[in-house]
Amino acid sequence: MEKLVINGGKSLFGSIDISGAKNAAVAILPAAVAAGEGKCVIDNIPDIADINCLERIVESLGCTVERNGNSLTIDSTTLNNLDACTEDVRRMRASYYLIGALLARFKKARVELPGGCPIGVRPIDQHIKGFEALGADVKIEHGAVVVTAEKLKGANIFFDVVTVGATINVMIAATLAEGVTTLENAAREPHVVDVANFLNAMGANVKGAGTDIIRITGVESLKGCNYSVIPDQIEAGTFMIAAASCGGEVRVSNVIPKHLESITAKLTEMGVEVIEEDDSVIIKSDRNLKGVNIKTAPYPGFPTDIQQPMSTILSVAKGRSIINESIWESRLKHVDELKKMGANIKVEGRTAILDGVEKLTGAIVKATDLRAGAAMVIAGLIADGTTEIYSIEHIDRGYPHIEDKFKSLGADIHRETE
Ligand code: EPU
Repeated sequence: MEKLVINGGKSLFGSIDISGAKNAAVAILPAAVAAGEGKCVIDNIPDIADINCLERIVESLGCTVERNGNSLTIDSTTLNNLDACTEDVRRMRASYYLIGALLARFKKARVELPGGCPIGVRPIDQHIKGFEALGADVKIEHGAVVVTAEKLKGANIFFDVVTVGATINVMIAATLAEGVTTLENAAREPHVVDVANFLNAMGANVKGAGTDIIRITGVESLKGCNYSVIPDQIEAGTFMIAAASCGGEVRVSNVIPKHLESITAKLTEMGVEVIEEDDSVIIKSDRNLKGVNIKTAPYPGFPTDIQQPMSTILSVAKGRSIINESIWESRLKHVDELKKMGANIKVEGRTAILDGVEKLTGAIVKATDLRAGAAMVIAGLIADGTTEIYSIEHIDRGYPHIEDKFKSLGADIHRETE
């Protein structure tokens, strides 16, 4: 069992490079299996457990995967298995993008229902609605999604909720459908745009990604391409919040500042100085922080994936802050862990009321999910004394080498194996 051990109280200084976006990369890898010829060479792939998991999954389908540093080469011309039913598939969320990709290319697939972070009910009704609108027959059998279609035909699909997953999955499936598909009330997250750009690089015709209406004109086939994943908005936001919480001056590099605007705006409102440059943001903080209110919302609103790290900084900001988590119904489980460190937080349903305390104190805590883990790391960095964080496999799913990155900024953090 591994844990992170942090001796808190150090200010952070220096520069940190942000890795490729997890939630783009975990969709791009499955989407690559839709290529019927050539290889996909994908750069800026983050070194995280979810990617390793997906590599094993696509290999189990018969694809060849080669890793060279941050670059992955996928040859899906050798794919010979349409049954994605392994423990790895069940473990992670993004494995469900294989449904869209296999349905597009082979008109059939069997993919075990996905797992992912325990942050609330995670239905896939909007994915199913989209596949059915394209002409697929969709059944849930023995814990797997079974899709078949004679052929796929373009359709108008209006999503009942703004969903990243269904927008991406149905967009992938529609690339090889006959005619035009229109997705309305589509998610606008940067990773949706990144996947659309990747599909276009493979020869697809996707327009409008980044707005709430995406038009996909079906093409005959997709082929391999060279592509580079965008920087991770959530990893960047996590480091911005950590720097603001610890005090000091940190340049968060290799980012797209536009993607960080909602986070920048909240930190500025808290009294933190944020300087935007072309592909970096500089955070200057004297730890004199003011409480603010947060309501999570689909992009360009405040990201739910940053809500938990944000709750840590708000627990030591002056005055009262209120967090309203509008996307997931149980994404406040980390609050009990923060309370062990002295935070004063009350949870009522999806709302957390935080009364800022002077300081947090080190304790033995656990990462209840991925972003909760990031919240606990930041808590450990600002707390007096030593913090030990368990269940860090959650953190490793989405943050590449988190302890090395914080260490390079002057934090006292290391990993221990028990
Ligand atoms: N929803 C439905 N029906 C569906 C799909 C979603 O009702 O068919 C609802 C969900 O229950 C939720 C809302 O729609 O209330 C948004 O869900 P969405 O589909 O956008 O989430 P997701 O695709 O399952 C991705 C990220 C999450 C991130 C959310 C929201 C990946 C692999 N995961 O999940 O990231 O919180 O979008 O931005 O891309 C994380 O990285 O820590 C993480 C959990």
